[in-house]
Amino acid sequence: MTKNLLLGQVLSFSGDPFRQGLEAAVHHTHGAIVIEGGKILDVGPADTIRPAHPTANVTDLGDKLLLPGFVDAHVHYPQTAIIASWGKRLIEWLNTYTFPEETRFGDPEYASEIASRYFDLTLSCGTTTVCSYATIHPESVTAFFEQAQSRGLRALTGKTCMDRNAPDGLRDTAQSAYNDSKALLNTWHGVDRLSYVITPRFSPTSSPDQLQALGALWAEHPDCLMQTHLSEQLDEIEWVKSLFPAAKDYLDTYEQFGLMGEKALFGHAIHLTPREIAQLSEHQSSLVHCPTSNMFIGSGLFDIGHAQHLPVGLATDTGGGSNFSMLRTMAASYEVGQLRGHSLHPAQLLWLATAGSAKALHLGDKIGTLAPGYEADIIALDLASTPAIAQRAARAETIWEQVFPTIMMGDDRAISGVWVNGKAI
Ligand code: GUN
Ligand code: ZN
Repeated sequence: MTKNLLLGQVLSFSGDPFRQGLEAAVHHTHGAIVIEGGKILDVGPADTIRPAHPTANVTDLGDKLLLPGFVDAHVHYPQTAIIASWGKRLIEWLNTYTFPEETRFGDPEYASEIASRYFDLTLSCGTTTVCSYATIHPESVTAFFEQAQSRGLRALTGKTCMDRNAPDGLRDTAQSAYNDSKALLNTWHGVDRLSYVITPRFSPTSSPDQLQALGALWAEHPDCLMQTHLSEQLDEIEWVKSLFPAAKDYLDTYEQFGLMGEKALFGHAIHLTPREIAQLSEHQSSLVHCPTSNMFIGSGLFDIGHAQHLPVGLATDTGGGSNFSMLRTMAASYEVGQLRGHSLHPAQLLWLATAGSAKALHLGDKIGTLAPGYEADIIALDLASTPAIAQRAARAETIWEQVFPTIMMGDDRAISGVWVNGKAI
């Protein structure tokens, strides 16, 4: 089998910098990565790795920083064309911009066009895995998986289920949500690098019957992830209280229907009660931090302190989020952290965007890390991609000082190479 060897700076993590500090980071100033058959075969200092693989094809990336491809743990690919829509908060934003756009995804051609556009945009930002919501239409799931599959991507999605509080043409039923989700799961889950995710949108748009049906489906397929939204805005939480008057809190509207556990992903999770935090900790459910979205829609400031005791992933939440780039998302996460008294270290930000998100998606043994046996989803970051960044990075004395200007000011222009499953694209 052909071996390809990449030369550059290499940065990855052998552990979690939130719990283990900087000991968890592995940096080689002159490093090398050997790729064979879509997997990473070897990683380390170039002067030991290169002689060990004398027949490998060498690509020299100079002082570019080789990182695992970014992992975006919560997105809505169908909102690609309405990103940056002005002036509304969550419920009004959904009704004004999101739902009318999502209505169009019953058309397989439109769904394919947007899925294709979405992957082109995210790959140009260095994102090699996303976990997306689709729309209520099975066609939207098929389009996403077909586009991901044709690019060789590891990707996750599920049919977004809604049987109430959504417009005509955008509601299913408890039974059809169960049947359609099950059929899509059976068709796609585990095919190539694709995973199906059981996806009730959020409890305001699912009846108790629908939540029950999806809880039953998850019990039949416990290896699948389940994703939904939790406690994003205060108005939303009040609405949930009025719809589920007997529930202890927002989380309980999922818990009582079996939609809670280690493989649950809760997007946003900003305004949590002590009981909710205790339950999430006991089950080790994943939280997904969506900082550009939380500021753009005016939702609130996530407490990154949760990363000390829970799996936390990082996400754009396109198109509630205002950017496709995980670099812009890391910058927003840094700023939200500052406002809540946590100065996130560049190592923590990069970990969240790679191994942290991968762990939150229960893919921490496959992607998000540069180590032997991992899938070869790799990016090369130019740490001097604009004059403003270059002049700041030129002063750097450590790798962290060198990479932080790109985290704070970088975008797709900083991505100078992307490898998916070992192939340069
Ligand atoms: N809550 C329910 N649906 C959505 C959505 O599409 N985006 C965001 N940000 N929050 C939601
Ligand atoms: Zn979302």
